[in-house]
Order: sequence, then C-alpha cells, then structure tokens
Amino acid sequence: MGQLLIQEVGSFWETHPLCASAIPYDLGTPEYFRYYDRLREANESIQFSYWLHEYPAFSGKKVLDVGVGNGYVLSKYAYEGARVFGIDLTEMGIGLSRRRFERLGLKGHFIRGNAEELPFESDTFDCVCSMGVLHHTADPAKAVGEIYRVLKPGGRLIVMVYHRNSVLYRLKFPLMSFVTGKTMQQLVNEVDGVGNPKGSVFSKNELRRLLIKFKDLDLSISLLQRWMFFQKAGCLFSDRLLRKFQKYLGWFLYAKGRRP
Ligand SMILES: C[S@@+](CC[C@H](N)C(=O)[O-])C[C@H]1O[C@@H](n2cnc3c(N)ncnc32)[C@H](O)[C@@H]1O
Repeated sequence: MGQLLIQEVGSFWETHPLCASAIPYDLGTPEYFRYYDRLREANESIQFSYWLHEYPAFSGKKVLDVGVGNGYVLSKYAYEGARVFGIDLTEMGIGLSRRRFERLGLKGHFIRGNAEELPFESDTFDCVCSMGVLHHTADPAKAVGEIYRVLKPGGRLIVMVYHRNSVLYRLKFPLMSFVTGKTMQQLVNEVDGVGNPKGSVFSKNELRRLLIKFKDLDLSISLLQRWMFFQKAGCLFSDRLLRKFQKYLGWFLYAKGRRP
C-alpha cells in the first residue's frame, strides 16, 4: 500500500511541479525561475526565509533538503556557503534544481529518491529541511525517522506542513465540501492540483507528536490570505488584520528543532 501510494505521489509531482500551472513560462527557463521566486516570496518573504532557515549559520556545513522541488531553498544555503544535497521523488524536481544551480553558478548534489528511505549514512548532515513535503508523502512518520537518522546529533531540523487549525481547513473547506460534495480529504489533496493522491493537515500537537524525538522544538504559523476565505468575504479584512491573525490561523505550520 505504502509503495503504491509513493508511486502515485511521484507520478503526480513529476507532471505537476510546484506552482507550474500558475507560471506562464516554459519550465526551467530564466523567466520561469524569476516568476516562481516572486510567487514564493509573496508567501514567504526573504527576511522570513532567512530567519527560518538560518542560511549563513550553515556556511561550510552539510545541508540536505528532502523534497527539494525546484531548488529554491537549497540554492540559498548553497549561496551562503553550505555543502548542499537535494533529494526528490521526481526527475522533474532534480532536473529543475540542477538547472537553477547551473544558472546561479552554484554547486549542489541532487539525487532522485524517497524521503522514507534516504540514501545517506546515519549522522551525516548538520541541517535537514523539508518544506511542504511530509504532508504529501505516504508515511510521514517514516520520513521523519529517516531525517532523524541522517542528522548529526545536535543537527538542525526545519520542516513545514499544512495547518489543521487554519481558516482554510476549518472554514473554507467545510463550506466548499458542503457546496461541491467533495470530501475534506479531497480538498486537502487538491491544494497543489487536482489528482494529487496525498495531502494531510497537522495541528501543533499532532506535529509535536510526529517530531517527538527532537528537542528544542519551536513551532510557528504563517500564511493567511484573502482567497482562503469563502468567496468575497476575504475583502472584508485589511492586510494588517490578516497579518495579525496569520500566526494563529495561517495555512503553513513550521517547526524548528534539533536532534538530541
Ligand atoms: C510542495 S512541493 C515542495 C518543494 C520544495 N520543498 C519547496 O519548498 O519548494 C513537494 C515536493 O516534494 C516531493 N516529494 C513528495 N514526496 C516525497 C518523498 N517521499 N520523497 C522525496 N520527495 C518527495 C515532490 O516530488 C515535490 O517536489
């Protein structure tokens, strides 16, 4: 069952790289990366990204990005001097990441593989990040076990998953489910595109339980935007109000921690 689901997950992302349907340029072109980066930075500012990932702290250190996507985050670690490794289920992700790195003149190692069976020795990395991946893999606990194994003792963990207690999950999806007849599970699966076989949501407590073996856990929430409210209701809220409430009701749940 797990293997079958992983194959389906891989097939989906192979043909639906993150945000590609919203980008009006050919995959892997300079315009594509510029457009993607602008979309990304509208959701996660560079300032936030530097706070979250602590890029300069890993200069000269080994960093692994699990589910590297098109290499956006990993390229920032490489730019700040880290020795970087990216793994992804898809040829598409590996190809796009290589293209991004070539374009920027950065060095990185990219491997096609599964987060649930990481092809690395134990105690290898100073930092492992995995952004927007654990909620899509077949067995998140297995992937977390692998991340723990390949981190060095004291190594940094940084992850992001979908947030259960968000406006999207608690307000918009129940209403959409009522109107469209789709199940909540279907609606979560479809956040990154129709046909995605696996999406899941986590409360802070559920994420803490998933990461129980890590110490110094620090959880935070972000991303609350107008489209997450039903129809035009989002227009009733000012940017200031959305920013104020995003740390409670946003869609992205982040965790930072350390391997003991
Ligand atoms: C939502 S995208 C996130 C990409 C990237 N982490 C980012 O922040 O832009 C999910 C990525 O995770 C990859 N992925 C999903 N399950 C995976 C698994 N079990 N092992 C490795 N990669 C996986 C997909 O191929 C896809 O590239």
